[in-house]
Amino acid sequence: MTVPLDGVIAIHNAFRADMKIVDTAALESARGKPGLEPTLERFRFFNEILVWHAHGEELAIFPAVEALAPLVAEAYLRDHRGLDAAYEALAAAVAARDALETARASAAFKFHLDIHLAKEDAHLYRILRERMPLPEQGKAVGLLSSTVPQDRFPEVIAWMFPLMGIEDRVNMTTIWQMVMPAPVFYQARQGIQKALGSEWAELARRIPSLN
Ligand SMILES: [Fe+2]
Ligand SMILES: [Fe+2]
Repeated sequence: MTVPLDGVIAIHNAFRADMKIVDTAALESARGKPGLEPTLERFRFFNEILVWHAHGEELAIFPAVEALAPLVAEAYLRDHRGLDAAYEALAAAVAARDALETARASAAFKFHLDIHLAKEDAHLYRILRERMPLPEQGKAVGLLSSTVPQDRFPEVIAWMFPLMGIEDRVNMTTIWQMVMPAPVFYQARQGIQKALGSEWAELARRIPSLN
């Protein structure tokens, strides 16, 4: 059964996938491969979404965890400020057109991001999963996603779905179908179909009610 927290796992996986794309481009650029600037530039929108996600966690998830397991969330808040600093370092290196420093900054960003997401999956969200009733989990995840500006939601769909594997696509779509008003979900569905292109068919096969 799909639960709301599966949506958080899905977006974490999208972050991992995009960071890997960016980091590979940074390394190959530093090795002299031309033409990777557009791929490297993904880091800007990636970070916009990461910041919305982090602020959503600080608004909805960390206070909930604090109530269930005092003094745990503070370490994750520190991680978030570390991610902000990692982004600033990468943006500065790109602005300076320093390919070597860009690769170093990207590698540091990726390392910190991967550790942070792995801790959240295995520890922070485990506390919610094990100690919070399911309806409360749903409310917390709803509040978490409220930090995405409404008018940017289509861009988030276009970014996220191609980066995710089929299980995460199924989970995210199923959750939205459950929680969104029908007209809002219809818009989201159109966006997902457009983002996935030929890969839409597999998602529609897994969720027959999409047809
Ligand atoms: Fe986080
Ligand atoms: Fe997170």
